[in-house]
Amino acid sequence: MRQDEREKPLLRILPGPSMHVPLQGLYLGEPLGPPLAAGRRFVYANFIASLDGRISLPAPSSDRLTVPAAIANPRDFRLFQELLASADVLITSGRYVRGLPRGVSSRSFPLSTKPRYADLHEWRRVRGLPPQPAVAIVTASLDLPSLGALAASGRRVYVATGNAADRRRAAALESEGAGVLRVGEGIRVQGRRLIEALSREGHRNIALIGGGEILRTLLVDGVLDRLYLTLACRVLGGATFDTLLTGPQLDPPARFELGALLYDEGAGGVDQLFAILDAKR
Ligand SMILES: NC(=O)c1ccc[n+]([C@@H]2O[C@H](COP(=O)([O-])OP(=O)(O)OC[C@H]3O[C@@H](n4cnc5c(N)ncnc54)[C@H](OP(=O)(O)O)[C@@H]3O)[C@@H](O)[C@H]2O)c1
Repeated sequence: MRQDEREKPLLRILPGPSMHVPLQGLYLGEPLGPPLAAGRRFVYANFIASLDGRISLPAPSSDRLTVPAAIANPRDFRLFQELLASADVLITSGRYVRGLPRGVSSRSFPLSTKPRYADLHEWRRVRGLPPQPAVAIVTASLDLPSLGALAASGRRVYVATGNAADRRRAAALESEGAGVLRVGEGIRVQGRRLIEALSREGHRNIALIGGGEILRTLLVDGVLDRLYLTLACRVLGGATFDTLLTGPQLDPPARFELGALLYDEGAGGVDQLFAILDAKR
């Protein structure tokens, strides 16, 4: 992102009165970022979606679904990095880990180490946080590539699965240094048990970077506290896509209230709204 693009302010619409605010630091600390105070556990998810609800479309020349290039942009990515910087642990999916183009390495799931994000590493260091958040991989199949390199990099790595998931595969992952969390009946993970297990491990800010199936897992158990939703002002279409939530209709629906709304007028090439939505319990 060019320096002038980084410095272009956003229009904060809510909470009022509306005013221009800087992009950098917006999601670092309160009032808009995850809480800094020790103690309370806080679970948040982050998505970018098009106006027609696409969070992913097939990547060019592959059938793999990824964040659409037409909406991905450096200003949203900066805020995504701030949310990663605030996390003690990142929750991702078995499917995502299997699809990593170069496999799992010590550099997977990073808070970016590019120079433009150096301030975020310093931010973590000053707060006594490890250089990178821990990683929790949610999976029923336990069909994962070797996690040895990631675990050996000094990060805590967990594999979250159900009580009945394959014991031999679980033991193999443990022997590579991953902690296996049995947090569900059958082979599937239950949201509340997952979050309680991660809290017992000492993690406070828990960030979902996976997709709609894990989001459902958290929503049905009422353990998501906040949704950071970037709405890119573009309509994309496409017959094969992912949207925010997979599976059957939620009954009752998950309810949110708008905590903040900001408008970003095109500095990264994409006009977009940043919405912060707090779960209503
Ligand atoms: N636009 C955005 O901001 C954004 C953000 C994140 C993701 N995405 C997109 O969303 C799509 C889906 O992402 P994703 O596949 O990473 O996430 P996902 O749909 O949440 O997770 C699917 C995988 O996670 C495991 N899983 C989920 N819930 C589980 C449960 N309760 N118990 C056990 N296992 C469970 C399963 O792994 P196993 O198959 O190993 O059992 C399943 O295959 C992708 O296209 C991705 O690009 C977009």
